[in-house]
Amino acid sequence: PQGILPAIDTRTRLYGVIGAPVGHSLSPAMHNAALQAMGCNAVYLAFHTTDPAGALAGMRALGMGGLSVTIPHKVSVMAHLDEMDPLARRIGAVNTVVPREGRLFGYNTDCFGALAALKERVDPAGKQVALLGAGGAARAVGFGLVDAAARVTLFNRNAQRGRALAQALGIEWLPLEELARHRADILINTTSVGMHPDTGRMPVPADCLRSGMVVMDIVYNPLETRLLREARAAGCEVVDGVAMFVHQGARQLALWTGRRPPVEIMRRTVLACLT
Ligand code: ATR
Repeated sequence: PQGILPAIDTRTRLYGVIGAPVGHSLSPAMHNAALQAMGCNAVYLAFHTTDPAGALAGMRALGMGGLSVTIPHKVSVMAHLDEMDPLARRIGAVNTVVPREGRLFGYNTDCFGALAALKERVDPAGKQVALLGAGGAARAVGFGLVDAAARVTLFNRNAQRGRALAQALGIEWLPLEELARHRADILINTTSVGMHPDTGRMPVPADCLRSGMVVMDIVYNPLETRLLREARAAGCEVVDGVAMFVHQGARQLALWTGRRPPVEIMRRTVLACLT
């Protein structure tokens, strides 16, 4: 997937991701593969920057086609936009900037990505969902689940952060020790536990995993986390972090181009980068 280069000319549209760091981002490979498959005259680059305001000014000045925003700029970038999508405003974070008639619109596609990934296996409406974590990712996923009419309970190590997010979502918070007694249909890990290099760790004890449960991990490095491996062994259905990453990116492309993105090509490209 590396090294894909379209014929660049005076009409080539520029897309990119801003963040710090962006050196290991999979977005350029994924988006360039998709843009090429869609027949778009466009390139997508990674921009390491600590100046999101300057980056957005540059985006306006250069007439860029769209921008992804990643850590640590998802919150600070909001102050420099002209309009906010209502869902992004509720989540309080933007991962996608869309230019329209000279104005910059902010969206959050992490929420859509998580729900689309989950829906590859199960519709969460009416289901008991245990949501692990209370950071930015939990916030985006949590709003999506609540909007999809899931019955969500938040579990987090830190009680203060857990309670605060649960209150914002209008749901209950419980300490992690309560999880084993909680009969969840769906378990979603939004913490970084199990991520490279600490791949031996699990966010929950294995006895929380029961046959028939759907277990989703937003961690995609490694592709199969210990949580997903143990879940599979326990007879659970699993949704890996690549699914969410691909769907959040597909939603970005749909917003930028108004067209249907090649989701399977994007997934194959990301998987090829990871293996
Ligand atoms: P992000 O914005 O990517 O979601 P974050 O804001 O740093 O990242 O949130 C990380 C989440 O992972 C938090 O909920 C954190 O729990 P605390 O609120 O208790 O700190 C959780 N987390 C990280 N390491 C953890 C660990 N070893 N055990 C349990 N939870 C952990």
